[in-house]
Amino acid sequence: MESTMLKKSETYDNVKVPDRWGVEEETTKVSSTRLITRETVLQQATQEVLKQGKKVIALVGGDPTRFPPLFPADSVIKYLAEAAIDGWNMYISGARPQRGYKPSDDLYEAGMYWGHPDTGTPWRDALIQEIIRREKVIHKVYYTAKDIFLQPGTTQAMNQLYLALLDPGDVLLGPEPTYQQYFFYAKYFKADFETSLSFEEDRWQPDVEDLRKRITKKTKAILIVNPNNPTGAVYDEKNLEKIVNIAGEYKLPIISDEIYDCLTFDVPHSTSIASISKDVPVLTMNGMSKFFAVTGWRVGYLAIHDPEDKIPHIRKTLEITTHIAGDAHAIATPVIVAATRAYKDWDKSLEHCKWMAKELKKRRDYIMERIDDIPGIKCTKPEGAFYAFPRVESIGKNKKWPSEEHFLADLIKEEQITFVAGSNWGPKQGFAHFRLVFLPKIEVLKEVFDRLERFMKKHSK
Ligand SMILES: Cc1ncc(COP(=O)(O)O)c(C=O)c1O
Repeated sequence: MESTMLKKSETYDNVKVPDRWGVEEETTKVSSTRLITRETVLQQATQEVLKQGKKVIALVGGDPTRFPPLFPADSVIKYLAEAAIDGWNMYISGARPQRGYKPSDDLYEAGMYWGHPDTGTPWRDALIQEIIRREKVIHKVYYTAKDIFLQPGTTQAMNQLYLALLDPGDVLLGPEPTYQQYFFYAKYFKADFETSLSFEEDRWQPDVEDLRKRITKKTKAILIVNPNNPTGAVYDEKNLEKIVNIAGEYKLPIISDEIYDCLTFDVPHSTSIASISKDVPVLTMNGMSKFFAVTGWRVGYLAIHDPEDKIPHIRKTLEITTHIAGDAHAIATPVIVAATRAYKDWDKSLEHCKWMAKELKKRRDYIMERIDDIPGIKCTKPEGAFYAFPRVESIGKNKKWPSEEHFLADLIKEEQITFVAGSNWGPKQGFAHFRLVFLPKIEVLKEVFDRLERFMKKHSK
């Protein structure tokens, strides 16, 4: 029998221990996260302003929780407390419904209790059923329980999907500008995100022909964010159809982030690309964060639409990776119970979301009016979500500001307002833009736009 003892050459006996803690060189993980944490002129300017004790109004974060949530805090506390008191504190284990741990007082026979009805599994299944109902009623997409992977947020759904999908050297392809996390995380997996163009002058609709031209053998999937962050574009059905056709032609699955699907201003909701696709696999991501204005609940999901079972390997890998990631989904069990009740109250939720959209539309109209009167700034009207993506004419080579960072650094120093630099959202088309969030009340937006107008007037002289 072969010895399991370490050979002399594998031990540190008589060998100097190298001067490191686990890694000798900078890893891909470190360098890809550096993309997010890099030092910039804007960060330096922000530090300076904060050190002087000045207050900054920052329209940077996409968190709608300042809107009164549909579920008042006391009812949420009640749901959570009831769940805990009723004993729903256990693991809800396994990616698929038949699995589930029994609490550890029964550990000696735990093996017999996989799928026991006393585990939290019924709640997980109930939440999945509510999500299926939501997707059916709003989008006319028909999922079954095995198609829904609960995740602690859409961001985590994307992470799990990348984990299951991407090998080093793979490329994701999608129209920019797009949600910045998708670039950063692709790098994290030693993969890349290639962007295609959009028509800024045509409501930021995707340039589908450009998308087609950029497909290579390395392309692994097409990824869209609809309604879009940061442009607020809501993609036309005819463009979605074209994307489905291209994906079908090149045998690529589509990934679609639809977290803002009901926060639309001119149509009742965006079209889910899965509702158009007959046979092309679509992996849709959505969650509670924006629809219910409860970003901190961390409830999201990934839904697989694959009627012809073309991507069983992705499904299988997801089953395993979500399990490895911590008890299938890692959403706290009492939160699952509360979330199920929230989704059950579905009609009220939709009404509440449409009320939010109506309020946001007023804020959108207000900022568009103000931008019209500001010299040197142009903005395509957002049609959904709560972001606008204006362009500053005097940013660029041999212009007043060499980059958005320099523009924003001056803006925070002189007027103590701040936004996010556009290049974060699109390496090709984000330049000379900034992303602003129009979630705050009109009084706050008024103050921000008074300052922005004063700044632009001063610098356009
Ligand atoms: C396009 C997009 N997807 C996902 C998220 C995050 O969603 P979650 O809170 O479910 O992780 C955001 C948040 O801003 C977003 O803009």
